[in-house]
Formats: sequence, structure tokens, C-alpha cells
Amino acid sequence: MCGIVGFTGHRPAAGILLEGLAKLEYRGYDSAGLAVYGGDGSVHVVKATGKLKNLIEKTDNGRSLPGSCGIGHTRWATHGEPNEKNAHPHVSGGFREDSSDYSDTAVIGVHNGIIENYEELREKLQRHGYVFYSDTDTEVAIKTVDYYYKKYKIGPIDAINRMMVRVRGSYALALMFQDYPGEIYAARKDSPMIIGVSDDESFLASDATAMLGYTREVYYIGNLQAARLLPGEVHFFDLNGDEISIPKAEVTWDEKGAEKNGYEHFMMKEMHEQPEAVRATLDSVLREERMSPAAKWSFGAGTLDFSGVGLPDEYLESIDAMTIVACGSAWHVGMAAQYVIEELAEIPVRVELASEYRYRKILSPANAVVLVISQSGETADSLEALRISKQMGIRTIGLVNVEGSSIAREADKILYTKAGPEIAVATTKAYTAQLALVYAFAVRLAFVKKKIDEDTYRKYVQELKSLPDHLTSLLDGKGRIQWLAAKYAGTKDAFFIGRGQDYAIGLEGSLKLKEISYMHSEAYAAGELKHGTISLIEDGTPVIGILTQERLLEKTISNLKECKTRGAYVIGITNAENPLVEECLDFVLRIPATDDHFAGLLAVVPLQLLGYYSSVSRGLDVDKPRNLAKSVTVE
Ligand code: AGP
Repeated sequence: MCGIVGFTGHRPAAGILLEGLAKLEYRGYDSAGLAVYGGDGSVHVVKATGKLKNLIEKTDNGRSLPGSCGIGHTRWATHGEPNEKNAHPHVSGGFREDSSDYSDTAVIGVHNGIIENYEELREKLQRHGYVFYSDTDTEVAIKTVDYYYKKYKIGPIDAINRMMVRVRGSYALALMFQDYPGEIYAARKDSPMIIGVSDDESFLASDATAMLGYTREVYYIGNLQAARLLPGEVHFFDLNGDEISIPKAEVTWDEKGAEKNGYEHFMMKEMHEQPEAVRATLDSVLREERMSPAAKWSFGAGTLDFSGVGLPDEYLESIDAMTIVACGSAWHVGMAAQYVIEELAEIPVRVELASEYRYRKILSPANAVVLVISQSGETADSLEALRISKQMGIRTIGLVNVEGSSIAREADKILYTKAGPEIAVATTKAYTAQLALVYAFAVRLAFVKKKIDEDTYRKYVQELKSLPDHLTSLLDGKGRIQWLAAKYAGTKDAFFIGRGQDYAIGLEGSLKLKEISYMHSEAYAAGELKHGTISLIEDGTPVIGILTQERLLEKTISNLKECKTRGAYVIGITNAENPLVEECLDFVLRIPATDDHFAGLLAVVPLQLLGYYSSVSRGLDVDKPRNLAKSVTVE
């Protein structure tokens, strides 16, 4: 989704803004723009469609825009097609074709989010003489600020507050007022925005990656709050216009996490970071019992302890039912978690798509908790699902990767994955880190609820600790998958089938393939294929069976045979030493042996690699697939 940046200091702003926008490219966009105060009091606006490099070329890498204060934007089109007029920044006045300039730049702004009542507001502004040059809701928001600013002759914060009272929807807005050179104003509701400060410079961005090269000291501006940024100085205001104080926080993420470090794509780098992401995530809930702190990773030692993250055993014991709510891959984690939690802890678990959950009648069982899973912590539907649950008095736990994100701040309890910044649109390391954490959660829950004995508990903890090394060995064997992907690069359809947790892993494998290779694929519960979809199987159609659940293996193999009889090329991903596997399958990918409950975390890696190499074979943009955004901040 859109990315916004802002900078005010004492050196040229445009280069810093372009650098920040480049860091936000991963979010997905189709046009970009900058506005910078010139030293002479004028404001220059430049926009370009397509890739950021077009804006970089158009501005001579920022050199054609002198000035030390500015805002920038990458736009992911919602209202109006991706062209220059719709690109941000937007301004108070009209666009003059004759001079390729704007008639009035009193207020200039960039926006991430959606203004829901923009049509009604536009009509009102038109009645007051405003002329619109774009199809965007953003132009309406900027002109609404301009209207109050000029009509009541009030200051920027008061004008912004009036706008906030008037508009419905979500926004992270960065604004400049021509009468206040060197200053940036910001307003936020339900869209991500972070404000950073160093000795004599101030920054604003959709996320911290855009400013990590300059500062780690940040403020998380709250909902319906406004800010005024001066070089090295930030002031916050509530909706009444009263100055408020917001605590400063420090971003602990490593800046290197947002760089490719020699890999061709972020996705490949992030797949290789999985052993460390899973290790660090498990480490946050693993405690030594007997020996030195480092000993918790040695064989036989260590116990799971969620009290350090606010979930002591008494809390776990009180959970009698769970609803897991999420979107996309995070929902797939929930699907996999459902099988493991139900099987180990013996409590009912329901898994819901956040976009559905928020509009249905919620019937929560007694002593339930809602677990909201989200890498970004900003997904609009997941955030709303969390808020609705809280309003209903249901206990909430957020499972989030991004520190200080909205879900992290609003959930009653928070579990963090320690995957570091994830840049590729297709999630990999955040997914496996989420899975590792829900596995650990399930094991501790089962033990606390006395559904597993001490020996079984210890065995499971041991199995969890072995996952990072297994991941490393899996990634070492990626060559065969590259071959497979090249062989099937031209294929029309692919199918993923499995039962139980294997079905959930198939859902993720299918999404990985389609989102970055644009190849049609579907995932099915293995027993369901013959109820219609099997009619799509033709000679050579790849059907990938996930076979990690021993007790379901023969059943899924029968379903694979049904496909093979109809011409399918059957591929299996398995940890099983079963003669049936070699007998039936055309191609076998073996994963390291581990307890079946946790094998899904390993089985997904070959599927991630398959998606990756299929995309590469087709010459596509692996990290930034078409039409997609990393963080989906609109519903
Ligand atoms: C998967 O590769 C996608 N990036 C997408 O499905 C993603 O998992 C979904 O949009 C949810 O995002 P979140 O984890 O940030 O909430």
C-alpha cells in the first residue's frame, strides 16, 4: 500500500526522501511524487508514474528540487487510475495545463488510507468554488484542510483537527503549509505512520525502515492525533488542539535486515534467514532451568515460558477456546495452528478470515481468547477484528512481527515474532516464525492444561529446538527444486493437496506459487478434490501432495493416485519412510524427520522455493509482484 515519507533538517531533502521511498518500495506502488520547499518560499511538486526510478530520473536524483524540507509518496491506486494527476502530493488549488503547475500550493499533502466520505465532501467543496483535477480521495482531504485553514484563518493544527472531525475513513497524512516553511504537519487514524527525530532533523514515514539510516529514536503517533515537525523537534496534539506528550521509543531492528546483503532478491535472503528467525522467536519463550542461560539450547535442557511475554501459566490455564483471526499467509498459520492446538491442548479452535469475522455475528464461547496474527501488525481487517473483539469484552492476543505496530499496541497481550524486517511481498521468514511461535504456544498450553505428560512435553520442546537446524539443511538442498520449477515454468495450473495440517501448508504453498509466478494454483483438502476440481487435471498437470502426517499418509497417497490415473505429474513432500511414497510419486522431496505436529514448518520451505524459482524462471519481479502490496492497510 502507499508509502509516505517526510524530512525537515538542514541538508537537501529530496535525496533523503527518495532514499526513504526506495526503502518503502516493497509495500507496492504504481506512481510516486515529491514536494520540497524551495529556499525562496515556493514549493515544487514533481510526480511520475511507474517505478521510482522514473521520479529519480525526472528530478535528477533529487538535485532539481533544492530545499531542506519536503514530503514524498509512493501510491498504490485505490481511487482513480495510476497516472500523474492522481499521484500524490496533492494541493489546495487546481492544475494549470498551460504551465504544468498548480494554481495554489497553500496546503500540500500525501496520504495513505481511504477517505470514505470523499464524494460528499467533494460536492461540498465544489459548492465553495474548489476545482478538482484528480479522481482521488486524497485531494479531497487536502482541500478540506485548506478550506478550514483559509475560512477560519486558523493555524495548521486547528485546520487539521477540523478535517479529522469531518472525514470518515483511515489516513496517515503528511502536510506542508506554504506559510510555515521548514515545517511538516502530520495526522493519523488507522493507517501506519512513525515519526523519527535526531539532533537537528525530523523524519516521518510509513514504517521505520525508511529512516533507520538516520535515526532509531521514534514516536508512535496515536489515532486522531496530529504532529508538528521542525528540524530536530516534534510536538504532538490531541483533537482539541492541546499539546500532548508521547513517549520516545527505540527501534531495535537491524538496518541490514532491510538490505539484500548480496542475494539477488529479498525473498531469497529472507528464506535463508528462516533458521535465525525461528531460533530468535523460540528463544524469546525458551528459558533455561538448570544451567547457564546459553544452555537452554543444549540437548534435553530448556523449558517454554510465556510469562516473560505476559502470558503466565495461570493465564494459559484459563483459556478454554480460541478464535484465530488473520489474513492471507497469517490466516494459513492459523489454519495450521488449529490442528496442533486442538490435538495437543484439546480446546476448540476456530479460524476466521479477518475480513469475514468483522462482519459476522460473533458468538464467543466462555473463557475464549482471540488470537490475531499479523506480520505487519497494520492489516486493516485484522486490526478491526481485534478492535471488535475487544469491544465485545473478549480477551485478545496479538502475534505480530513489527514492533510498535497498531495491533501490537492495541492487543491486550502481545507475542512478538523475531523475524526482523521482511521486505519481499511474499512472506517467508515471518510465516515460519509465526508457525514456530504458535507451535510453542500449543505445547505449553497442552502441558499447563495437563493434556500431555512431562516426558512428552520435554520431547516436544526438544523437537522445537531442532527446527532451526532442520531449516538450514533444507535450504542447502534447494537445487532440485530449482530444476523442478524450470521444468514446470510453462504450466497452466498446479494443485496442492493434503490432509490435516498438510492441507494448511498446501494453502500456503499455493499462495506462494500464484502470488509471485502468476501461475494458477489451488490448494485442496485431499479428500475434496474428487468433488469437482479433479476435472481440471490433464496430462502433465502438477499435483503436489504434502505428506507429513503419518496417520493420514495412505489416504492422501490414494488421492494422489486418483490424480496420477488422470495424467497428473505427482510430486510429494514428505518425511515418511514408507515404500508407498516411492511407488506412487513421480518426484519426491524429502524433509528432515521431526515430530508430525511440527513438520509443517519444514514442509513449507520447498514450497516457498518452488514459488521463488517459478517466478525467476518466468522472469518476473519476485519481490514486488504486480497488483500486490506488502501491508494491506485498507479493507
Ligand atoms: C503473503 O505472502 C502475503 N504477503 C499476504 O497474504 C499477507 O500474509 C497478508 O496480507 C497478511 O499480512 P499481515 O501478516 O501483515 O497481516
